[in-house]
Amino acid sequence: MFKKYLIPNAQNLPEGTAFTVEAEKYSFLVTKQQGRIFAYENLCPHQNKPLNWSTDSVIDDEGDYLKCHHHGALFSITDGTCITGPCQGRHLRKATVGMEKGDCYLLLP
Ligand code: FES
Repeated sequence: MFKKYLIPNAQNLPEGTAFTVEAEKYSFLVTKQQGRIFAYENLCPHQNKPLNWSTDSVIDDEGDYLKCHHHGALFSITDGTCITGPCQGRHLRKATVGMEKGDCYLLLP
C-alpha cells in the first residue's frame, strides 16, 4: 500500500526546471523531461548530501541532467544513473510518481 503526497502544480512545471517536495522525513527533487514528471530523493550517492545545497539550478545548463553542485556529478533525469562524476554508475533513489484526477502524486511505500 502506497501513501500519496500531492506534488503541487506539477503539470505546469516548465521543462528544464526542478523543485523540492518534502514527504515524511525525505526531500525529493521533482523535474519534467519530455512531458513526463520524475522525482528523486534529494540525496547524492557520493556523500549523501542534498544535490541542491546552492541556489543554482539542479538541472545542468542544457536541461538534460540533474546536477549535484558539491562535486559536479550529473544524473540521468529518466533513470537517475550518474553518468559522470565521483559516483559514476551509481543511482539517485527514484520515487514513484502517479496521476489521479489530473493531479500528480509521490507514491511512497
Ligand atoms: S556529494 Fe554529490 S558529487 Fe559529491
